[in-house]
Amino acid sequence: MPSPSARFKSVRIYDHPLIQHKLTIMRDQRTEHEQFRQLLNQIAGLMAYDICSNLPVTSHEIETPIARMTGVKLANTTTIVPILRAGLAMMDGLLALFPEAHVGHVGIFRDEKTAKPVTYYAKFPANIAHGPVILVDPMLATGGSAVHAVNLLKEAGCRDIRLVCLVAAPEGITALHAAHPDLPIHVASVDERLNERFYIVPGLGDAGDRIFGTQ
Ligand code: PRP
Ligand code: URA
Repeated sequence: MPSPSARFKSVRIYDHPLIQHKLTIMRDQRTEHEQFRQLLNQIAGLMAYDICSNLPVTSHEIETPIARMTGVKLANTTTIVPILRAGLAMMDGLLALFPEAHVGHVGIFRDEKTAKPVTYYAKFPANIAHGPVILVDPMLATGGSAVHAVNLLKEAGCRDIRLVCLVAAPEGITALHAAHPDLPIHVASVDERLNERFYIVPGLGDAGDRIFGTQ
């Protein structure tokens, strides 16, 4: 059986012990929402470093207290787009590394019976297409929400889109690959499967409810 990274093209799995340690605490049903939120933000921050490893840079001439030199700076402003609600809980961790980032929002929920995505909000910065976009949602289950969010971003002209999520189902990755073959996916775990209610197994339950205490 090949490893999930080998099975899925353009999927980067973060099997770092610190991330997996925090994810295991999150999965535990006894973990309360305060700790759940803290850990989700911490994992997002840890993943951010690698998500950005190939961001475009431009040369900049500067003068240090000692000498002139050519350094580099990020070429464009990055926009971070959380999928509401659950994506919001990864924002502090990401913005800590990207304090200058712009922020867009997409509101999508799954219809409870069909699991099909329903969009209720979308607002992007005017210049979003000029730079990289980090799309954020902890859960990739059927993939419907993420496919739809990427459609909206592409309609807005975005070309460099990177998806960051915490837990994915193989079904969601397959759906995303079919709709958007080149989209890089950064994920802490690819779990076994979806259950009959389209929840990820073993997963961590309903992320939005666990973050916001609404169950
Ligand atoms: C969850 C999650 C994703 C979506 C994933 O949101 O945060 O957005 O489900 O499922 P999918 O891959 O099958 O589309 P949910 O629909 O529960 O909305 P909420 O965040 O408002 O609770
Ligand atoms: N959304 C969640 O929050 N959890 C799942 O397991 C699937 C979709």
